Amino acid sequence: MRINSLQEYHEAYSLSVEKPEEFWANIANEFDWIKPFTKVLDWSFDDYSVKWFEDGQMNITANALDRHLKTIPDQAAIVYEPNEPGDEAITLTYRQLHARVCKFSNVLKAQGVKKGDRVCIYMPMIPELAIAVLACARIGAIHSVVFGGFSAQSISDRINDSLCKIVITTDGAVRGNKTIPMKETVDDALLSCPSVETVIVKTRTKTPVSMLKGRDLWWEEEEAQASADCAPEPMNAEDPLFILYTSGSTGKPKGVVHTCGGYMVYTAYTFANVFQYNPGDVFFCTADIGWITGHSYLVYGPLLNGAISVLFEGIPTYPDAGRFWDIIKRHQVNIFYTAPTAIRSLMGFGDEVLEGKDLSSLRVLGSVGEPINEEAWQWYHEKIGQGNCPIVDTWWQTETGGLMISPIAGITPLKPAFATLPLPGVQPILVDENGKEIEGNGVNGNLCIKYPWPSIIRTTYGDHERCKTTYFSTYPGLYFTGDGCMRDEDGYYRITGRVDDVMNISGHRIGTAEVENAINMHTGVIESAVVGFPHDVKGQGIYAYVICEHPTINDDLTRKDILATVARVIGPIAKPDKIQFVTGLPKTRSGKIMRRILRKVAEGEFGSLGDTSTLLDPSVVDSIIAGAL
Ligand code: PRX
Repeated sequence: MRINSLQEYHEAYSLSVEKPEEFWANIANEFDWIKPFTKVLDWSFDDYSVKWFEDGQMNITANALDRHLKTIPDQAAIVYEPNEPGDEAITLTYRQLHARVCKFSNVLKAQGVKKGDRVCIYMPMIPELAIAVLACARIGAIHSVVFGGFSAQSISDRINDSLCKIVITTDGAVRGNKTIPMKETVDDALLSCPSVETVIVKTRTKTPVSMLKGRDLWWEEEEAQASADCAPEPMNAEDPLFILYTSGSTGKPKGVVHTCGGYMVYTAYTFANVFQYNPGDVFFCTADIGWITGHSYLVYGPLLNGAISVLFEGIPTYPDAGRFWDIIKRHQVNIFYTAPTAIRSLMGFGDEVLEGKDLSSLRVLGSVGEPINEEAWQWYHEKIGQGNCPIVDTWWQTETGGLMISPIAGITPLKPAFATLPLPGVQPILVDENGKEIEGNGVNGNLCIKYPWPSIIRTTYGDHERCKTTYFSTYPGLYFTGDGCMRDEDGYYRITGRVDDVMNISGHRIGTAEVENAINMHTGVIESAVVGFPHDVKGQGIYAYVICEHPTINDDLTRKDILATVARVIGPIAKPDKIQFVTGLPKTRSGKIMRRILRKVAEGEFGSLGDTSTLLDPSVVDSIIAGAL
């Protein structure tokens, strides 16, 4: 499974393209299967369906936990770094994690949770979040983790989309110097979620919460009564493992479904290779488990490899902007994986913060979630990696389940700000607007993938048609990523950003339509149009053009009210950075908003708006520009 040289990478890549089934079967056979698979792959991108190892049976937790009990039972699996730097870090060894997962599995079973049931998890970054995720996987329940920063409305939308039976949460959360209500938000969400029968509440902040008789239970009390013996549920490789909601260009977020076998094989393989993980290394992924990065490279990928994974509850700027560097020293972190937004924001605090910090344990650095600009890349390389740690700029998506285009640490020759080369099993192709392949090097196009890899999205929960149209209809026969991409003279890939109506705000994916819908819920708002614009720290910011019913009495106050509305409907991460009140939007005669123009105005490029002759009322543009100046 392990690639040790550039030549081995090229050999693995060639085999993965020429004989994909043989390639992945060999890797899959390194895992424990309850019933071995005989079929490797069955697929069609035309009438979308992909099945890997479909007649095999396994359980991902048997591979992520039980398998290591024979070899490294007393090694750390998860190292929990609490929000307060002075608080004791808690280590869970593989033996301890296994026992706690088994206990919580029994807690879920006692509540009637069965294979195939959906479980919503809304928790801060504490070990119990990972335990809850793994317990679901152990009994075959489908976890749907909702990022702890989402609003009650977002939680209930997600619960209702997949009809979750149970919600797991905490009383509250601590992030930096803030205490955040969690149970209260869940209570609000559950006012409109008839499918939920039970809520399990872990104590974190000891803030008073209302516990509803017959519905709400304390985690601690239930765990205390549970046995630590729970056999893993035999799962077919193609049984769903989890749902994770993500934003697209239209409609509400969709539930991306990943299945057990392929996801296991691919996350384990990519973790081991890209980060070149060696036994005993300490791996620190700063992502929240509420996002795909946390699922794949804080929980599953590392644990499948018997790795030590750091789980950090707090934020990078508490108590000060040196927190990540202190954690690296405290836990002797060898591999550090974070997002460009964090790098840019920490860069902004100046190099003084780094004085006296001991970063000598670091060997590999990683970047994920958004394009990393060259300046940030250089700073990361020089100041954090001390000039001698390779940076793996990993491009992938919620839908891909695992890393797709990325250097292999210390093996792939790097180029700043390039995701470099496709990993084995990944066959990228660039196409023009008409879906025609753009061959050769030194070209730009829309990034598609032409062959399935084991952790490709299987469906969007409850709506397979939506999955087909979103990913497989723009360019028939290809998986369309939604990203623009450049392939340079050396065949190296550089992701240039989304080409659809999805924004990337601090590495968080947010649809323009979602924000517009939220803004439109504010009283007095008639219509709005939202676009992304370049932002020094966040990568992209949100720019909203808003038409109100009457001229507002106090623009600033109305702006604040709109922000509060967006935070309530989606969550604080979707709050626009700029709101411009306008009297009209640039629409074509058929009523379509020309976002191209709005993007240019948001970028401050008033001189190059292109052809505006197809607009219903071209004078709208002048008044928008006047308002933006
Ligand atoms: O636009 C790409 C960007 O993030 C999108 C996927 O977002 P999400 O599903 O939330 O997953 C983020 C974590 C994997 C992509 O379509 N993106 C992700 N990684 C990179 C990136 N853009 C440039 N470089 C990357 N390394």
